[in-house]
Amino acid sequence: MGKLVVLTLLGAVLALIGERLVAFRQRTNASRAVEPVDLPNCHLIEGLENGSEDIDILPNGLAFISSGLKYPGMPNFAPDEPGQIFLMDLNEQNPRVQALNISDGFDKASFNPHGISTFIDKDHTVYLYVVNHPHMKSTVEKFKFEEQQRSLVHLKTIKHELLTSVNDIVVLGPEQFYATRDHYFTNFFLVLLEMIMDLRWTDVLFYSPREVKVVAKGFSSANGITVSLDKKYIYVADVLAQNVHVLNKHRNWDLTQVKVIQLGTLVDNLTVDPDTGDILAGCHPNAMKLLIYNSEDPPGSEVLRIQDVLSEKPKISTTYANNGSVLQGSSVASVYHGKLLIGTVFHKALYCLF
Ligand SMILES: *[C@@H]1O[C@H](CO)[C@@H](O)[C@H](O)[C@H]1NC(C)=O
Ligand SMILES: *[C@@H]1O[C@H](CO)[C@@H](O)[C@H](O)[C@H]1NC(C)=O
Ligand SMILES: *[C@@H]1O[C@H](CO)[C@@H](O)[C@H](O)[C@H]1NC(C)=O
Ligand SMILES: *[C@@H]1O[C@H](CO)[C@@H](O)[C@H](O)[C@H]1NC(C)=O
Ligand SMILES: *[C@@H]1O[C@H](CO)[C@@H](O)[C@H](O)[C@H]1NC(C)=O
Repeated sequence: MGKLVVLTLLGAVLALIGERLVAFRQRTNASRAVEPVDLPNCHLIEGLENGSEDIDILPNGLAFISSGLKYPGMPNFAPDEPGQIFLMDLNEQNPRVQALNISDGFDKASFNPHGISTFIDKDHTVYLYVVNHPHMKSTVEKFKFEEQQRSLVHLKTIKHELLTSVNDIVVLGPEQFYATRDHYFTNFFLVLLEMIMDLRWTDVLFYSPREVKVVAKGFSSANGITVSLDKKYIYVADVLAQNVHVLNKHRNWDLTQVKVIQLGTLVDNLTVDPDTGDILAGCHPNAMKLLIYNSEDPPGSEVLRIQDVLSEKPKISTTYANNGSVLQGSSVASVYHGKLLIGTVFHKALYCLF
């Protein structure tokens, strides 16, 4: 090929990417201003300063919090130390965070926790499943929680050729879980291209020791996943499409779509209010500020509540919103009887009474 042809082709490709990038920025409303919504009784949680990726609260009020994620393309200000899982007892008057001890025999140095999910077995044993990215790969780690010792005993590492780019999991049996994959590609540049071109090649997997299968697909970037109180529906956040998918769970673990709830903001992690069944969504109101970090003009935070999820018209309200002056890059919000915890990708965490 002549040089001119190559240059023309290159120009066309760049123009296409440029056009898609503009469309991407518009789609994500990348520089949206945040109207503040304050809660009266909030304070920042001491000891959580550099991210608190995911939060899962047990029925007895013990909250597990995973430390901030180190992920290509995401800012991170934490010292270069291995990831941790923190515990917070929400029954206490002034709950404090405590890092859980992890048993020996597990490679703690490469621990890089992402989504977490708890499962309580019939014998009341509490298991904590953690999406891990050691050396930027994806595994799911199964731990047993020892409440007295405040420690996690590592039981096994789950790997599978389909378990790539795992973001979040929801565990529904001793060895059964759904997992979201946030990218199709694993190469950083192909991932960027995938996002910009909006390929919608990401999916939800079902995992069990006997069977691993794709159960839902077509997401721009499947992110947070959780289950309804009655365990009949699965909720999946599509962060780039800015919506929440409500899926029907079948006996063979297949999922079929019931509805999609548009939120108009980048939805990260989902939790369910144990008292009402409402969905709480940790959202990113201005995504570009999150990716291209500027401390003078930081990313904001937004927590939405979705009531009457299955009705004709679910009600969406803003529980908390801040322009980044208090809290930056909220990724998850979790409630426990009048108490609210808001976690972030790489910033602080907020504890509120409401
Ligand atoms: C972007 O967000 C602003 C609110 O700050 C809203 O008024 C506007 O409609 C949004 N634009 C799009 C394309 O969603
Ligand atoms: C957060 O990161 C900063 C800068 O690396 C460090 O000084 C600080 O100790 C960290 N805080 C916690 C609670 O890890
Ligand atoms: C955690 O483990 C360390 C060393 O293994 C031990 O010194 C410490 O007491 C343990 N902490 C708790 C809370 O059990
Ligand atoms: C929680 O938020 C992080 C931060 O962006 C996101 O990458 C991750 O997918 C979410 N994890 C869970 C458990 O949903
Ligand atoms: C954010 O809001 C606070 C007060 O709510 C205000 O003082 C500050 O200037 C705002 N910051 C930006 C970057 O808009």
